[in-house]
Amino acid sequence: MASSQTHFFLLFLSFLISDTFSEQPSTPTALVLPISKHALTLQYTTILSRRTPLVPLNVVVDLNGPFLWISCDSTYNSSTYKSVQCHSPLCSLAHSNKLGCNHYNTCTVFSKNVFTKKVSAGELSEDVLSLNSTNGLNPISMVSIPQFLFSCAPAFLSRGLASGAKGVAGLGHTKIALPTQLANAFNFTRKFSMCLSPSPNDPGVIFFGDGPYVLLPGIDISKLLTFTPLIQRPRDSNEYYIRVKSIRVNGKQVPINSSLLMISTVNPYAIIESSIYSSLTRVFIEEALAANVARVESQAPFDVCFSTKNTNGAMIRPGVPVIDLVLQNEKVFWRIFEINSMVPVGNDTVCLGFLDGGLNPRASIILGGYQLEDNLLQFDLESSRLGFTSSLLLRETDCASFNFTN
Ligand SMILES: *[C@@H]1O[C@H](CO)[C@@H](O)[C@H](O)[C@H]1NC(C)=O
Ligand SMILES: *[C@@H]1O[C@H](CO)[C@@H](O)[C@H](O)[C@H]1NC(C)=O
Ligand SMILES: *[C@@H]1O[C@H](CO)[C@@H](O)[C@H](O)[C@H]1NC(C)=O
Ligand SMILES: *[C@@H]1O[C@H](CO)[C@@H](O)[C@H](O)[C@H]1NC(C)=O
Ligand SMILES: *[C@@H]1O[C@H](CO)[C@@H](O)[C@H](O)[C@H]1NC(C)=O
Repeated sequence: MASSQTHFFLLFLSFLISDTFSEQPSTPTALVLPISKHALTLQYTTILSRRTPLVPLNVVVDLNGPFLWISCDSTYNSSTYKSVQCHSPLCSLAHSNKLGCNHYNTCTVFSKNVFTKKVSAGELSEDVLSLNSTNGLNPISMVSIPQFLFSCAPAFLSRGLASGAKGVAGLGHTKIALPTQLANAFNFTRKFSMCLSPSPNDPGVIFFGDGPYVLLPGIDISKLLTFTPLIQRPRDSNEYYIRVKSIRVNGKQVPINSSLLMISTVNPYAIIESSIYSSLTRVFIEEALAANVARVESQAPFDVCFSTKNTNGAMIRPGVPVIDLVLQNEKVFWRIFEINSMVPVGNDTVCLGFLDGGLNPRASIILGGYQLEDNLLQFDLESSRLGFTSSLLLRETDCASFNFTN
């Protein structure tokens, strides 16, 4: 009797203590979102819960986008919607120098559809955003940010997005993109990680906040990261770049100058500046031919294609060269295996998923979704560095292996 009373008292005490020590027991240290590939457009989409009452909202993810924009049509119905006043502190968060105002005295920002290149003014607005917190293993519980900033753009702007998508979620390096707003809302570290799945039916995962990031069968992939500095370009400071000092194909040096590499979820395949492209493909073709891989005719949009007859569709074929992007020194490189370089086209052809970007692409090297799939990337905005893992398939897991059931 006495012991059970003591037990009860201790339980009660520990309840009191935990209640006293953490005013908000549910303050999350990380948040999680699914991210899915859309088969037709090759865009990556996620689902956000917004408004009051909450409704799920399908949006395309743009890693380099400056903020969340949504097309707000007549069906936008929310009791918690508010537009942001002109000349207010929130308005200046969105505008580093000039203040944008419309004649209703509300703050406006320019929203861009990165696929159609159409741009339109939108009202900077606030509304509820809900998402799942996580301990790195599962979703835990829904948490809400009552005044999440976004741009309310005209309905036409979402034309050209994956079917059903009503806007674009920007993860760029700005004060009002998702990573910084979410980190500020819950005071967690300004880091986020992205793991894209190639399969339209099995979503990959985005984590906001620090690891662990645990994928089935129980592998903490945050422990597998290698780091390189993130570079900020003054004019495109919301975008993510790293420096590539050299490229090796099967260990052979490709003659290039040190170059900037941009990471993109908007381009399905890598885009490479012409002179680098021709050096890279020349060495790549030499290496493949030397290993008796037969070159076959081009298949648009790809230039460099090979036959896979007689290889029984093996995933890592001997003979397909590996590409190393050499970063801050010779020992730090991002290795691109066949699974991220060769795109299957038809039954017995694979093509190099790198496209000639002409003389003036946005960066000398732009890695697209295909190169990023089943790789973990961590963007650490506090320490300005990128963590990367290379293909998780070599670690017996993949980006679709986060356990989204709670
Ligand atoms: C908007 O939502 C409110 C509350 O849920 C509802 O009463 C109202 O009818 C809705 N209006 C429209 C136009 O859907
Ligand atoms: C949170 O996770 C649960 C379980 O996976 C899911 O049903 C729910 O839709 C998620 N909520 C949000 C806002 O993503
Ligand atoms: C936020 O976190 C930092 C360090 O983790 C801490 O010093 C600071 O007091 C926290 N701020 C709030 C408002 O909780
Ligand atoms: C490197 O840059 C220099 C100066 O711009 C140029 O002359 C040279 O051709 C470049 N080398 C390669 C391999 O692109
Ligand atoms: C690919 O192979 C499948 C099954 O072997 C066959 O049905 C299909 O017609 C082939 N497609 C092409 C484009 O050759």
